[in-house]
Amino acid sequence: MCFAYNEALMNVHVLPSLLAADFGCLAQEIRRVAESGADALHLDIMDAHFVPNLSFGPDVVALARRVVPRLPRNVHLMMTRPDLYLQRFVDAGADTVQIHVEADCDIWAALAAIRGSGVRSGLVSRPQTPPEALYPYLALCDEVLFMTVNPGYGGQAFMESVLPKIAALRRHAASRRVPLDIMVDGGVNFETAARCAEQGANQFVAGSFLFKQAAMAAAVAQLRDRCTASLRTCPSVT
Ligand code: DX5
Ligand code: ZN
Repeated sequence: MCFAYNEALMNVHVLPSLLAADFGCLAQEIRRVAESGADALHLDIMDAHFVPNLSFGPDVVALARRVVPRLPRNVHLMMTRPDLYLQRFVDAGADTVQIHVEADCDIWAALAAIRGSGVRSGLVSRPQTPPEALYPYLALCDEVLFMTVNPGYGGQAFMESVLPKIAALRRHAASRRVPLDIMVDGGVNFETAARCAEQGANQFVAGSFLFKQAAMAAAVAQLRDRCTASLRTCPSVT
């Protein structure tokens, strides 16, 4: 395909979501993620307004930095006004800050502020949001996250309806020769992750699936291998 670009430009990353950890021993759980060989830790911030749930705040991001400084921290803000809290998460040690395109703020300005703080920027969409809603902002995004469940809770079933959105964005990015990272989050396991990779996703957040494993390292390695093989079959990636 003439507009495809080389998948060597895109790394397959696996990110366990701390939401599924045992909150009674968070430091130990963060060490477990680091020892599993995962590429980064995904931290879900919920404000009980944008989503009907509360999780944790910048102190837990700072805890992760203190416990394992070398493990990158990928911070997913499920907040109505993420723009008011960006700097607090950057100061706490976020390496990537992701905001929702449906948030009630100037998305362009917020993405620019994230990048201006020296960290990676990410833009997230709910399952019902069309991929075209993201296109105007891609120049300011290092990664796009497609929610594959309705945001707010771990342990939900993967929504197949998101698969064509992944394919559409990968085609769009490939046609512009942009090596965009496309991440999925929600109901991710070996099978659903591979199906997302076939459509062009290259980063995989998994909460309950990875934390319930007796051997997280083996599952992380297998998830990465399976997704690497599936990504090679994506027509927009050669
Ligand atoms: C849900 C969160 C997810 C959650 C995924 O709103 O954004 O990161 O932890 O959990 P699982 O993998 O259990 O669906
Ligand atoms: Zn998340």
